[in-house]
Amino acid sequence: MKAIEIRNKYLNFFKKHGHHVIPSAPLIPENDPSVLFTTAGMQPLVPYLLGEKHPEGTRLTDYQKCLRTNDIDEVGDNRHLTYFEMLGNWSLGDYFKEESVAMSFEFLTKELGIPVEKLSVTCFAGDKDAPRDEVTAECWKKAGIPEERIYFYGKDDNWWIAGEEGPCGPDTEMFYDTGKPACSPDCQPSCDCGKYVEIWNNVFMEYYKHKDGKYEKLKQHNVDTGLGLERMAMLLQGKQTPFDTELFAPVMEKLQELAKVDNIESRRIVAEHLRASMMVIADGGRPSNIDRGYVLRKLIRRMARHLNKMQIDLNELGNLIELDVSILKEMYPELEANKEAIKQVIIEEKDKFMKTLVHGEKEFEKAIQKAKAENKNKIDGQTIFKLYETYGFPPEITADLAREQGFEIDNSEFDKLFKEHQEKSRMGSEQKFKGGLAEQNEKTIAYHTATHLLHKALQIVLGEHATQKGSNITTERLRFDFSHPEKMTKEQLQQVEDIVNEQIKRDLPVTCEEMTLEEAKKAGAMGLFENKYGEKVKVYTIGDFSKEICGGPHVTHTGELGHFKIKKEESSSAGVRRIKAVLE
Ligand code: ALA
Repeated sequence: MKAIEIRNKYLNFFKKHGHHVIPSAPLIPENDPSVLFTTAGMQPLVPYLLGEKHPEGTRLTDYQKCLRTNDIDEVGDNRHLTYFEMLGNWSLGDYFKEESVAMSFEFLTKELGIPVEKLSVTCFAGDKDAPRDEVTAECWKKAGIPEERIYFYGKDDNWWIAGEEGPCGPDTEMFYDTGKPACSPDCQPSCDCGKYVEIWNNVFMEYYKHKDGKYEKLKQHNVDTGLGLERMAMLLQGKQTPFDTELFAPVMEKLQELAKVDNIESRRIVAEHLRASMMVIADGGRPSNIDRGYVLRKLIRRMARHLNKMQIDLNELGNLIELDVSILKEMYPELEANKEAIKQVIIEEKDKFMKTLVHGEKEFEKAIQKAKAENKNKIDGQTIFKLYETYGFPPEITADLAREQGFEIDNSEFDKLFKEHQEKSRMGSEQKFKGGLAEQNEKTIAYHTATHLLHKALQIVLGEHATQKGSNITTERLRFDFSHPEKMTKEQLQQVEDIVNEQIKRDLPVTCEEMTLEEAKKAGAMGLFENKYGEKVKVYTIGDFSKEICGGPHVTHTGELGHFKIKKEESSSAGVRRIKAVLE
């Protein structure tokens, strides 16, 4: 069964059981700066799990695009993926354990035709926070799972929460027996020898975990489930890895055909990172040196390096993107709709990286020789830092290169140097900023506030990739550089101008607060988050419109600004646009 058929069967099944099908939320969470990417189907539903009414009712189902990058270094083996699709169904204070278990059992055995003998399940063993989940175990028995294939585990295995704080609860997980021989007489679903593969997780979400570690019962009992589509497709197709399914196989084959030096791990990394990058770009992500942009940069650069390693002509990237879009467009029409932007962003980023790669690899070789001569098996932090600073090598790539030659990298020394560097550049940019505002008078201060309004308006009109790359203010005009891959249209410029002028008309108050960077990030402030020291920063808030980390000063009310007019929009450098604007 193809992945798309599994998805359709799933949504139809839950529709038949009274669920409303909701669309996937974007990979880049809306209005939630506290997380980088959507990592689970429940994430966009948190307010409803906490009791808010969902407009579509109490039974929902969807497919959700997810990106998890904590295991990015593992990609290349036979199972890890960064991007994946999660199928989910939710009860918001509606059905609970019995119905949830019965529906999962029916879907797996009847709709997907999995023999009962292949299924094992696990339930929560109980502890001081919540009781042993006998209820769920009974439901499984009633459904048809024999007692000897029902296992009980503690919080590590059978409790689910996204992060440290939030809605959570005991879960029950379903496992598929691949038929591989048991690794030992004690082999159980919790063992990761590969015999048992987890296929579905139903969370009985009726608690809220507070920051202080305390659990509180929620107003309503919910069910939150997640079924990994790629994994299910792999199992139902009898394949050994997700890369052997129709989702990846054509790209894997093409790479093999193109490779002068074939390497299966590299092929998997390229196929996986290509799909993940395309999905992020289609949802508005753009490469940069911070947060989401940095993750995307890492994905693209790692992909480029592995293409290079297999001696595949990098000019093939355009064709590979065409091929991948053609495979995936039925599942994700947004890929076809954004194909040109995807190509442009990936190819530009690859070009940037390739310029530095050759020199960087030479530098790296020198470091390896030096380490060998000194009888060390670690690459020192200085070298990793130099590769990062001079050649734009993400440390993960250096670690990759090192691992391939049997070396480790000294992360702690690198981290120290990295922090020092950031501190210096932060002080540098504050200096520059002060310099820019040396001539502080009514005019420059007004332009400064207008810059904040412009920054936010650009993000509204173009997307959140349109972040500040530079700013320069004189008494005559403001100049603002921001990331964006193409020329802005007349309509976009007009929209931006209108939004800024509307905020001026609203005469919004401008206020300033001091807080730590963490707090600023939580509050949703725009700005550079590279420095994570907990040091205090100033955050300027303009009414309900904008929040930005900044040294100031600013006007007290936007009404003081006059009329905002964009004079020019032009290219500043690759992927960066420049706006010049005046206050009249
Ligand atoms: N939220 C649960 C998970 O991600 C279903 O596994």
